[in-house]
Amino acid sequence: MTLDLQSTNWAAQINLKNLPQHVAIIMDGNGRWARKRGMPRLFGHQRGVEALKKAIGFALDVGIPYLSAWAFSTANWRRPETEISGLITILRRTLSKDLAEFHDRDIQLKVIGSKVGLPDDLITMINRAEDLTKDNKKLTLLINFNYDGRTDILEATKKIAQKIKSGDISLEDITEDLFSSHTMTTGIPDPDLLIRTSGVVRLSNYMMWQCTFTEFVFLEKNWPDFTEQDFCTALQDFQKCGRNFGQISA
Ligand code: FPP
Repeated sequence: MTLDLQSTNWAAQINLKNLPQHVAIIMDGNGRWARKRGMPRLFGHQRGVEALKKAIGFALDVGIPYLSAWAFSTANWRRPETEISGLITILRRTLSKDLAEFHDRDIQLKVIGSKVGLPDDLITMINRAEDLTKDNKKLTLLINFNYDGRTDILEATKKIAQKIKSGDISLEDITEDLFSSHTMTTGIPDPDLLIRTSGVVRLSNYMMWQCTFTEFVFLEKNWPDFTEQDFCTALQDFQKCGRNFGQISA
């Protein structure tokens, strides 16, 4: 993975002082992209990694501090074995071949999701990558793998219920902040902007707790065709919208 720096002057198109702190991406349409070219679905995912690399490079370039990318949903276990093992191989490669570059570029890597069902060696690689990059500051990259929003909410609820049962906290202690701190994204600000490609307009059980006030940008193109300019245009849309968090706009 080479995270090329772009020579484009993004500041001419977007206000670099009003950037979303956290952008979440649903990288959709890899399968359709491959099918259109008569190629196996996995080829679409492999090209999807290249598009993700562009998105990471762009985030570094303009100074977005948190980027999330949904690489494997818990529902994806229902896919053919070859596709599942191919996606696991892509993650393994990212955590081995690309790790040094992430570290050099000051990227903190987090793999968010359930570890249930993941191969032991992959869990070891995840732990090693997270540990190596834990003090990096420029960009926190969250790869959602074996992740879905409802499981995240259920697991947080169980942890809180357990603490009530053991007397560590009381019912009155349950606040939004406390709940957030028990989700898989604890310590990470909620996404300000969510981008989904492939023309599909839904959240599909992604970060449902976290995306309450998130602005959504839906793009027609499939994920492997996503470019830095598409990211920039999504930021322009984000900067045009007036976010009021339920209050009256100024
Ligand atoms: C959805 O498109 C995409 C996925 C389920 C996987 C996304 C994974 C990548 C882009 C690879 C990056 C992964 C890592 C670990 C760095 P789809 O296949 O459902 O598309 P379709 O709706 O056209 O079939």
